[in-house]
Amino acid sequence: MDLESIRSEVKRRNQEHLFTFWDELNAEQQAQLLEDIARIDLDTLERLIPTHVKSSPATAVGSVPEPADAWPARPKPSQETKYAEALALGQKLIAEGKVATMVVAGGQGTRLGFDRPKGEFAISPVMNKPLFRLFAEAVLATGERYGRPTPWYVMTGPTTDQPTREYFAKQDYFGLPPEDVFFFCQGVMPAVDHAGRILLDQKHRVALSPNGHGGCLLALSTSGALDDMRRRGIEVVSYFQVDNPLASPVDPLFMGLHALTEAQMSAIAVPKADDLERVGNFARVDGRLCVIEYTYLPDELAHARNPDGSRRFDDGSIAVHAFSRTFLESLTCGEGSIALPWHRAVKKVPFVDIGSARRIVPEQPNAVKLELFVFDALPVADRAMLLRQDRGECFSPVKNAEGVDSPATARRDMSRRAANWLESCGVNVPRASDGEPDGVFEISPRLALDADQLKGRLTELPTIRAGDRLYLG
Ligand code: UD1
Repeated sequence: MDLESIRSEVKRRNQEHLFTFWDELNAEQQAQLLEDIARIDLDTLERLIPTHVKSSPATAVGSVPEPADAWPARPKPSQETKYAEALALGQKLIAEGKVATMVVAGGQGTRLGFDRPKGEFAISPVMNKPLFRLFAEAVLATGERYGRPTPWYVMTGPTTDQPTREYFAKQDYFGLPPEDVFFFCQGVMPAVDHAGRILLDQKHRVALSPNGHGGCLLALSTSGALDDMRRRGIEVVSYFQVDNPLASPVDPLFMGLHALTEAQMSAIAVPKADDLERVGNFARVDGRLCVIEYTYLPDELAHARNPDGSRRFDDGSIAVHAFSRTFLESLTCGEGSIALPWHRAVKKVPFVDIGSARRIVPEQPNAVKLELFVFDALPVADRAMLLRQDRGECFSPVKNAEGVDSPATARRDMSRRAANWLESCGVNVPRASDGEPDGVFEISPRLALDADQLKGRLTELPTIRAGDRLYLG
């Protein structure tokens, strides 16, 4: 589009203030401003202004939610055959190259006080390996275990895209074949003030931010990643978040149960740490599996108890999913739009004041940001599967610089899991009086992806002394 058509389009949407400083900008800045504007989905924004900006969409959970049904972490005797069948099917799909893995790494590590892509954050307890390295080693080890490389789709965001690509290149893709790593960048939405006006971050820059991890569903289609998956014959896509170092990029049992139950989308749940833990809650609403985010779960439901005293809504989301590729295709239909709900968040967003031409860093929340959540695709699926897993095996997110869900708790949990795996192989792990392993332990994904594989790999059992720092790679 030429400049005049863009200007009149923007004017038609009552956003002409974006051009206030146009005449002051040099050619490069003008080009940058036009590029930013071109990235905005003005139709969607215009549609959302009355419902999500000038007012709030209803967040009340519609019908009364019921706890979700789920496959247990350990099969009941009557389910053992089914689990064995699922594991074999998952392994077969991986070995046939029909499984891909995808990580969402578009968010910034702001809460961690880390100004690089979060995947570069050093996390492993002994070797200090960054998150990306841990996952890359697991993807590599999966390929080695099943004799076929698993393609890895890495979703970046506008600020993490370039640095992430450079980082992978600098690290020689951690040994992965570069043609099996596919980067794609998620879309953006502009921050708007309460009147629905798009904010300028600078005179030549729109205040754009990532459109939520649900943006991956759109970006998979627009980036060509879905086409690439189809070409490769991918049938199932395993999804995880970059902030959970215990996440398994490809879990054969999970993949197999997803396929065996003919689910279109699946998820993994763990028992919640407390009633108000900041995780999504699995529930069944109108017969469909869904996630009710902690911010939307009414307090009386968060605290509700079963007759035996256990928590009624105890299935916390670790944000690990499986998607059938055909389901992903049906969500976007290649049309560049998606029928998922948008969520609003009111945030402090620095902006250029149009009247005074000054950049203001607000002290109070002044803007609305709009995001899509990937788990909102669950109730769209006609067939959805939920698998419960042991929390210590698969979930310890790195969200905050200190306290809960911090690097310290993640390192502790990685070390705890390694200690448990070693004990399951017959290694004597010294423990302190509180039962915690006495020492720091790390097992490379290249050595073992789970306790079973470790059993086969440990040719001799290591002797461990209290306080040891042990790395097995
Ligand atoms: C999220 C989930 C929550 C789940 C928890 C598990 C939401 C709203 N909630 O919480 O249900 O129980 O994780 O740890 O997501 N990301 C992008 N692009 C974006 C936004 C996020 O790639 O636009 C990525 C981030 O890099 C990160 C992940 O998504 O890896 C999680 O995002 P975050 O906003 O931190 O979610 P939480 O509120 O922690």
